[in-house]
Amino acid sequence: MSDESAREALHITIGGRQIAITARNPLKALFGEALHLLGRLPLITLHSRYIAPRSLHLETVRVGLPTVMPELAGLRVGFITDIHHEPGRPIALLERAIRLLREESPDLILLGGDYVNSVARDFDCPLALLARLRAPLGVYGVLGNHDYWAGGDYLAARLASIGVTMLRNEARRLRAPGGGHFWLVGVDSAVRRHDDLEGALVPIPADDFRLLLAHEPEVADMVMRRGLRVDLQLSGHSHGGQVVLPRIGAPMLPRLGRRYIRGLYTTPPIYTSRGLGAVPPYLRFNSPPEVTVITLAALPKGHPEERGAALPANAGHIDRGANGVSDDRPFPTQR
Ligand SMILES: [Fe+2]
Repeated sequence: MSDESAREALHITIGGRQIAITARNPLKALFGEALHLLGRLPLITLHSRYIAPRSLHLETVRVGLPTVMPELAGLRVGFITDIHHEPGRPIALLERAIRLLREESPDLILLGGDYVNSVARDFDCPLALLARLRAPLGVYGVLGNHDYWAGGDYLAARLASIGVTMLRNEARRLRAPGGGHFWLVGVDSAVRRHDDLEGALVPIPADDFRLLLAHEPEVADMVMRRGLRVDLQLSGHSHGGQVVLPRIGAPMLPRLGRRYIRGLYTTPPIYTSRGLGAVPPYLRFNSPPEVTVITLAALPKGHPEERGAALPANAGHIDRGANGVSDDRPFPTQR
């Protein structure tokens, strides 16, 4: 909330939490607080402590793209997003995710934002867990919309203090283990309008591989609309829908997280993680929490979609191996 709108808000306290009700969204504020209180029910706390960590999926995704040069093939990227820590909430899910990612030993680890749900205090515990992450090419992060509501600069500084390189509309040139180089680009939250895609992407040499880390999946549409180019985008934000009801679908998708909800898409080239945590009432249904390892793959020599050919609508291939499912069919353009 901006300083101006904070001054206009009516502040009330419910269950020890102060909430701000503005003239623009009184019902939304009260509904959000009701969900928050629901999340404090002992049954939901027990679910978060004991059931949610067991439902965590390690998604290993092999992405074949025409723009992956042979030197980049085999690059493994670990990805955790949407932790949504809240003081007093169980930390077991994050503990398990970090253990799984450490066991996978990826070349590079990316953090997709929304480290907290609504407040930045009591962040020591998740920070100590995140400090265990190490990768040869480093650990990088971007901020999400919830981080800005809680205090973006403060959280960025705390993450930097444990060795996470925060990418705030900037790019880093990294050398892959196979010898080639690529650019890792990170943009700030687009929901909070802190993104600067042009500033981050335009200085990169035209033919170099660009891996974009952006909290909101629909940043991919902004990239296309503005005539920019990204080879692969990694995002979170949607929580895979978080609650996905039979026949109805996902009724609580956030702004800029309604088109590329989960999984891999080719046009635009994006992988959206279901993320780890959840927003109040901290429950998921048909959308289990996820930690991801993505392996880049070059398309086979002579493949019609090899680099140099025009990029068709279904250019990539997916090979999921983590949970006993494996195939190499073209991945869907949209779900
Ligand atoms: Fe989120």
